[in-house]
Amino acid sequence: MKRILTGDRPTGPLHLGHYVGSLKKRVELIKSGKYDPFIMIADVQALTDNFDTPEKVQENVWQVLQDYLAVGIDPNKATIFLQSAIPEIAELTVFYANLVSISRLERNPTVKDEIKQKDKFQKAVPLGFFMYPVSQAADITIVKGEVVPVGEDQLPHIEQTREIVRKFNSIYGKVFPEPEGLVGEFPRLIGTDGNAKMSKSLGNTIYLNDDEETVNKKVMTMYTDPNRIHANDPGKVEGNPVFIYHDAFNKNTEEVKELKERYRKGKVGDVEVKKKLAVVINEFLEPIRERRAKYEDKNLLVEILRDGTKKAKNVAEETMREVKDSMKLVRI
Ligand code: TRP
Repeated sequence: MKRILTGDRPTGPLHLGHYVGSLKKRVELIKSGKYDPFIMIADVQALTDNFDTPEKVQENVWQVLQDYLAVGIDPNKATIFLQSAIPEIAELTVFYANLVSISRLERNPTVKDEIKQKDKFQKAVPLGFFMYPVSQAADITIVKGEVVPVGEDQLPHIEQTREIVRKFNSIYGKVFPEPEGLVGEFPRLIGTDGNAKMSKSLGNTIYLNDDEETVNKKVMTMYTDPNRIHANDPGKVEGNPVFIYHDAFNKNTEEVKELKERYRKGKVGDVEVKKKLAVVINEFLEPIRERRAKYEDKNLLVEILRDGTKKAKNVAEETMREVKDSMKLVRI
């Protein structure tokens, strides 16, 4: 069975963009029974850009764990673990740091974008943040991950991981498989405000834990076609967030097709299209809400994370024995 390794930074609740970009695919892969899945709550990586708000990271460890369970990741089938409880990852990161140049890291487009978005990094970028792709390579390879289901923005990190693996294997002998990235159907979901990306920091998200009323409110204030002023003006469907979400969440493709036709002809108002969308999103979220309710007990959450982490720790220790032997580190 191929091993899956993936994860998320616990910096906020997971949203619809996470779902269509990556979570949905993960759930499918896990349900297929053909993989051995490891899923990491990346609290150490979360600190690389939240070192000054540790309580935020702490809270969101439990939030993200609950989101995983709520979307249907079965803790009996998937090993869910906590990054900071596996110090072997930090150790492996130090070894990998020898195999990556500063100029190579500077070329990573995702890191570049993130730095641009963070005002606090404009003057000086912390070393920990700058090199998090190296640490991510350690996350993936510490369990010898082969398949990495992620959002599109993570692909540069997988490429970086593959380079590190090739270099490591060629110098020290073959220890690691080269992992492959796997993106979901909607690699990047537009924000409710029309921004290219749904993101907590932009405030344009619909969270998996939003209640019905919140979803209704968010959908009714969504950005649509800015050039359409009256309901009987012909509207644009392409690039229109309301229709992109219909495509992503409305299973009734006939209805979507018909709504688009009417919208193009100016025969349906934004309000009707949005009302239908709110219903669809609430229907999609309902089973997620029901499952979440089963995981409100903090003790249960602790138990699940502890069990998964124990398993991951054993695998990590085994990998590090192999790594140290192949690197000819002296055993005493
Ligand atoms: N960088 C990922 C994100 O921001 C989280 C992450 C950390 C991850 N380590 C990983 C994803 C390893 C896949 C594999 O969402």
